[in-house]
Amino acid sequence: MVTSAFDLTGQVALVVGVAPGGLGERAAHALADAGAEIAVADLPSLAADLPSRAADLAATAGDRGASAHEVDVTDEASVAALFQDVITAHGRLDIVVNAAGVMLRKPYDETTVEEFERVVRVNLTGTWLVGREAGKALTRQGSGGRIVNLTTVYAERVGPVPESAYYSSKAGVVNVTRALAAELGPHGVNVNCLAPGVFYPTQMTAALGADPDRLAWFGERTMLGRLGDPATDFAGPLLLLASPAASYMTGQVVYVDGGWSAW
Ligand SMILES: NC(=O)c1ccc[n+]([C@@H]2O[C@H](COP(=O)([O-])OP(=O)(O)OC[C@H]3O[C@@H](n4cnc5c(N)ncnc54)[C@H](O)[C@@H]3O)[C@@H](O)[C@H]2O)c1
Repeated sequence: MVTSAFDLTGQVALVVGVAPGGLGERAAHALADAGAEIAVADLPSLAADLPSRAADLAATAGDRGASAHEVDVTDEASVAALFQDVITAHGRLDIVVNAAGVMLRKPYDETTVEEFERVVRVNLTGTWLVGREAGKALTRQGSGGRIVNLTTVYAERVGPVPESAYYSSKAGVVNVTRALAAELGPHGVNVNCLAPGVFYPTQMTAALGADPDRLAWFGERTMLGRLGDPATDFAGPLLLLASPAASYMTGQVVYVDGGWSAW
């Protein structure tokens, strides 16, 4: 049965960047629905909230359980500790989804070097660092695995609003994905990235609500004529890349953008 390739029973998934209502949180619930044991991780500033949201996931995951961890993806020691903690808590690791990211909407000539480098540090260096530690953990374990990164529809183009640091960092995520896919392929580890269009609302896109005309335009600009709904439009493509169903896909960018990039 082809549907059994989407069954994650017996597998452990780590999702990084799980703010309420965001794509990472949706990913964690989708993976739990598909049968995986779940570990969620986010910044220490969100930590107070994490155990109760892990408990919600544990309810979805039944007796498979869920665990909550603190991490800052810009901090090498923190990322290394995360992987140790997850393996201690769950005994193994099969899937890593990195949804951690920040956006900066600012004209290029008002953006400071510090601001630019901060965005690159989280989105690009953070993706590489999580990928590096995930790759080490998965190859040590020796049973393959899947890593899913998050870029954007603007991975290989730019958008109509000034976000030079964001666009630059997310373009880098594509080649980090391909580079890690090349090095980890011989170990049976698939590395791909999802490129979402505008999914509204999430913590990152909530501010768009202040400009309803712009928000409507983002929807109308797609072939489907609407914005992405985090509750319904993300889980399917995520589950594909996170499951054995995508066993012969690696180094790929999968656009989930209502056709935005296809015009
Ligand atoms: N929502 C969209 O329309 C959209 C479109 C394209 C790409 N994306 C990407 O999807 C991912 C999730 O975005 P979202 O819209 O769900 O936003 P979100 O703000 O809900 O999620 C981002 C998460 O990253 C975490 N994070 C930020 N800095 C971190 C750090 N240093 N260490 C650890 N965690 C950190 C945040 O706490 C949050 O949980 C991001 O990478 C974003 O760039 C989103």
